[in-house]
Amino acid sequence: MKSISNPFITTGYQGGEYFCDRLEETEVLKSNLINGQSTTLVAIRRIGKTGLIRHVLANPPENYTAIYLDILPTENLKDFLNVLATAIFTTLPEHSKPGNKILDYLKSLRPIITFDPLTGFPQLTVDVRPGEAERHIQSVLEYLEAYPQKVVIAIDEFQQIMNYPEKNMDAFLRSIIQTLNNVRFIFSGSQQHLMTQLFADPSRPFYQSAAFLKIGKIEAKVYALFIRHHFEKAEMMIGQEIINNMLSWADHHTYYVQLLCNRVFASASGEIDDTCWREQASRLLQEQEIVFFKYRDLLTKQQWYLLKAIAHEETVYYPTSKGFIGKYNLGSPATVLRSLQALTDKEMIYSDYAEDGQLFYSVYDVLFRRWMQSR
Ligand SMILES: Nc1ncnc2c1ncn2[C@@H]1O[C@H](COP(=O)(O)OP(=O)(O)O)[C@@H](O)[C@H]1O
Ligand SMILES: [Mg+2]
Repeated sequence: MKSISNPFITTGYQGGEYFCDRLEETEVLKSNLINGQSTTLVAIRRIGKTGLIRHVLANPPENYTAIYLDILPTENLKDFLNVLATAIFTTLPEHSKPGNKILDYLKSLRPIITFDPLTGFPQLTVDVRPGEAERHIQSVLEYLEAYPQKVVIAIDEFQQIMNYPEKNMDAFLRSIIQTLNNVRFIFSGSQQHLMTQLFADPSRPFYQSAAFLKIGKIEAKVYALFIRHHFEKAEMMIGQEIINNMLSWADHHTYYVQLLCNRVFASASGEIDDTCWREQASRLLQEQEIVFFKYRDLLTKQQWYLLKAIAHEETVYYPTSKGFIGKYNLGSPATVLRSLQALTDKEMIYSDYAEDGQLFYSVYDVLFRRWMQSR
């Protein structure tokens, strides 16, 4: 396994050594595959869905070929076909005969190969007429159906299909997917209301077509062990209390935990004390300040006040209650509801269910929350 200079990664996947926990979730995903079930993976942004998918696909069940697509940048079926073609082109071994058949098919679509200037990865753009993408997607999937190994296709940010101009995307995909026995899917998405609409609404084609897996925050104890292990491996000392303080500052939200640990790791040597991590934390906030002021410019006054209020409270259960509205001077419940919707649409806040089943609201960006609270 390759060794990297900072064990706390903040983008992508670098192998099991730098990946914390998710043991149960990994097992569930694998066992679903082995049992021929597709899975719908949902969670708020930056909690570790993509990481988990990468982790599972890096070591798929025996005799499985894994294909990963991130469809967030796609806007229509043709983009989807390009992303699918690229993933297949970069994943399937060239010399295998059945692999060759698919590649020949893709070649017949006269693809243009370009290289992503940032990552250097090849990207295929196929030459199909408008309205033809559907047929080609179907053919490609049919080829995969005939592939000698089992195939898992992970489609990340799947809710994006709901933004395509083509109507009834889910019906179209569902109708093909239904006929496949050799190909299983992992559908992953951050926009939980859209994912639930797609998969949990009895009137929609994808209803009950996949097992639901919701992932939450990594357990504090387990994360703490991971953090200590990596500091100690680099011959740095870090106390339990410091780790707990860092975890709660980052609200146990995977990306923010990784980011803070990454900075502390990069700046420290010897023993990590309270001053050391707090300095890195406040640096992070300073760096972001300009972004936070942009937030204010992008929002109406009412939305901005509501955002600040939710940030201060961390979690809000009754946003239209007298108590909350009065404390922050937010106007009428109707105004609050409207702003709540707008902030949700802009993905500035999210709502989720607490363990006791109660719905709460929280500000997505943990750094923004800490910044707001420090003023
Ligand atoms: N189990 C994990 N252990 C360590 N880092 C992780 C883990 N899962 C995700 N990460 C890191 O956290 C960040 C956010 O995770 P990501 O998978 O991109 O979230 P999501 O797909 O849910 O938005 C990434 O930088 C990723 O490298
Ligand atoms: Mg992701």
